[in-house]
Amino acid sequence: MTLNTDLDKAGFVPALRISAIGVSQILKIGARAQAMKRDGAPMIILGAGEPDFDTPDTVKQADWKAIQHGDTKYTALDGTPELKQAIREKFRRENGLDYAADEITVAVGAKQILFNAMMATLNVGDEVIIPTPAWMSYSDIVTIAEGKPVCVPCSAQAGFKLTANQLEAAITPRTKWLILNSPSNPSGAAYSATDYQPLIEVLLRHPHVRLLVDDMYEHVVYDDFRFVTPVALEPRLKGRTLTVNGVSKAYAMTGWRIGYAAGSRELIKAMAVVQSPSTSCPSSVSQAAAVEALSGPQHFLKERTESFRRRRDLVVAGLNAIDGIDCRVPEGAFYTFADCAGLVGKTTPAGKPIETDTDFCDYLLQVAHVAVVPGAAFGLSQFFRISYATSEIELTEAILRIAAACSRLGSDSDRC
Ligand SMILES: Cc1ncc(COP(=O)(O)O)c(C=O)c1O
Repeated sequence: MTLNTDLDKAGFVPALRISAIGVSQILKIGARAQAMKRDGAPMIILGAGEPDFDTPDTVKQADWKAIQHGDTKYTALDGTPELKQAIREKFRRENGLDYAADEITVAVGAKQILFNAMMATLNVGDEVIIPTPAWMSYSDIVTIAEGKPVCVPCSAQAGFKLTANQLEAAITPRTKWLILNSPSNPSGAAYSATDYQPLIEVLLRHPHVRLLVDDMYEHVVYDDFRFVTPVALEPRLKGRTLTVNGVSKAYAMTGWRIGYAAGSRELIKAMAVVQSPSTSCPSSVSQAAAVEALSGPQHFLKERTESFRRRRDLVVAGLNAIDGIDCRVPEGAFYTFADCAGLVGKTTPAGKPIETDTDFCDYLLQVAHVAVVPGAAFGLSQFFRISYATSEIELTEAILRIAAACSRLGSDSDRC
């Protein structure tokens, strides 16, 4: 008899801490759409959350200069002094926030910042309030850190924003964090100073709750919306707020993997303890590039946002012209989060019922060859997210195809 020593063949058993987490639905849909494209289908993929613009040339040059200069070794654990200085200046210039170098941390993307923060602070069962719809990485990271995500659904009528009453009701003695993301992935909703104020008042009444604000889409806001971050509104929150940002979206640098944050010295130090055994430090040359992104020319930010605004208007108008779809005008980011409840209950020409937003997105993928993401992937059905970070030509074609696919949906009574 031979012993089976291949543990994985005998049946792989993941660690408990990841058993509730699957591969992101966005990645799964993207992979399916790419496979269909390889097989010859004329796919339009509106799933990925990354700008279609290129990293600015000045940033690429800074990277090349760092390589030539030999800045290719490990750096200080949580960021080079040059990048920390550039981040301090960015916070002062753009947000009116004043932080010392040891209150700043740099990591491999904002995702690692979140990971470090949760791993550094959560004990088993500690609760983290996450208003939904939300980027699902928040709850996945909380789960990996053995905390408990407390998802609070925010309706389209409330602009997908958390209300003070909802926050008050969600807080318990076990609450460690509230996570807010403005402008939001996936809804594009953004909190104004007036929206933040009642939430701040609740937080002031509950001093054991920390606030993590993810300002990743700060530069992508439209019309007259004025971006503001909570610590600028209420300095008394400074000691317990982690203000998170990064270069991925504003500077089209998703692949460079640089995120950063400002918070209390004690928290920043604890986050470095998590970072040390995981990545040692962020990429040296990406950090040099990020210094240039934050300190160099900024004029293209406005130009790119204007281009995103045109695309937003095109998509919102196109979707609202379709019977059964209702799309709120987002204040920022490059996503629409449209209500498709009016199409649930209908039937596809092949006789398949549309019972959920996931069924609807599946139908669009198969029939219209348009890849979008169901609201379920962000914790709120019956909605779907479009990432409009692609050309107006492609978006126009996508809307035409979605409209045509929707017009072919029938009610059961239409069938003979
Ligand atoms: C709201 C939000 N925060 C953070 C991130 C991750 O940013 P990074 O590329 O810096 O890890 C994303 C990426 O989609 C995001 O949507």
